[in-house]
Amino acid sequence: MTGFTIDPEIRKARTLPSEFYLSGETFEASKRSILGRSWHFAGTADEVDNLKPIELLPGVLDEQLLLTKKAGELACVSNVCTHRGKVLIDEPCRGDLIRCGYHGRRFSLDGKFLSMPEFEGVENFPGPEDDLARIPLSTWGRFAFISLDPAATLKEFIGDAVDIDEYSRARLTETREFCINAHWALYCENYLEGFHIPYVHRSLNEIVDYGTYKTETFRYSSLQTGFDDNGDVAGRYLFVFPNLMFNFYPWGISVNVVRPVSIDRTVVEFLTYVSDASKLGEGAGKDLEGVEMEDEAVVESVQKGIRSRFYDRGRYSPTREQGTHHFHRLIAEFVD
Ligand code: FES
Ligand SMILES: [Fe+2]
Repeated sequence: MTGFTIDPEIRKARTLPSEFYLSGETFEASKRSILGRSWHFAGTADEVDNLKPIELLPGVLDEQLLLTKKAGELACVSNVCTHRGKVLIDEPCRGDLIRCGYHGRRFSLDGKFLSMPEFEGVENFPGPEDDLARIPLSTWGRFAFISLDPAATLKEFIGDAVDIDEYSRARLTETREFCINAHWALYCENYLEGFHIPYVHRSLNEIVDYGTYKTETFRYSSLQTGFDDNGDVAGRYLFVFPNLMFNFYPWGISVNVVRPVSIDRTVVEFLTYVSDASKLGEGAGKDLEGVEMEDEAVVESVQKGIRSRFYDRGRYSPTREQGTHHFHRLIAEFVD
């Protein structure tokens, strides 16, 4: 596969070539090198009763995982039986142990092999490979994240630009999904610049003072801050590479999980975590759906545009596209 190079100097750099978004081979490679090596959002501990199966990126990573909670502690293990490979748990349920519904193998909630009928005399059994694989799980405030093979710790991925403890009361109140006919990275890079706000989002432009909109970049994350006319923060937008968005508003957090479905189809999950219901409707987060429709339309238009034989790559605004440049640099670093 061809590697991609993005000049670290934004004034010299060119954007990712169209091939990144259009090549099936690159999409395949990025499943392992980007999505397999980053952290995936897994909600909060109170959303897990006891045993909760998760299918991580169906059709893309296709990994069957199981969140378990015992005495308030979350863990994540493989949801695939080590005997003949049946998926162990299909629906959220309760139990003190995990029992396979095929031939009765049993595991503890942290994945240790416990017992198996009719296996007397089997040599070198049980061994470590008969336990369920433990999947790295880490938390940020009340939010849990899992990773198949993390390139760095969750702390390094998120950085410390936002004090998550301010949102310790945030509770999930609503979940919505949007389907977009575009490559997942096009959706992310649109999110990463406020450059398009005056052109694409007229209503948002009335709330956010475009002139003072600011972007800061960190190792694996970036933070955009929008201010209102009084100079107060209207919204803070934290992007955690490669596909997680945390939008902080006066009332709480809107988490957007960008889930690739195929090379040109993406689902974006909107999870609303409210920490102060009295402020709902205030700040830049009051018309999320209208803004989302405007973003989807422009991203789907770019998906069509990059197929053109007359377009390959562009240049960056040094003052308005630092976040997009940073994202493309990370993509190039991960798909080497
Ligand atoms: S596949 Fe689980 S016990 Fe056989
Ligand atoms: Fe937008």
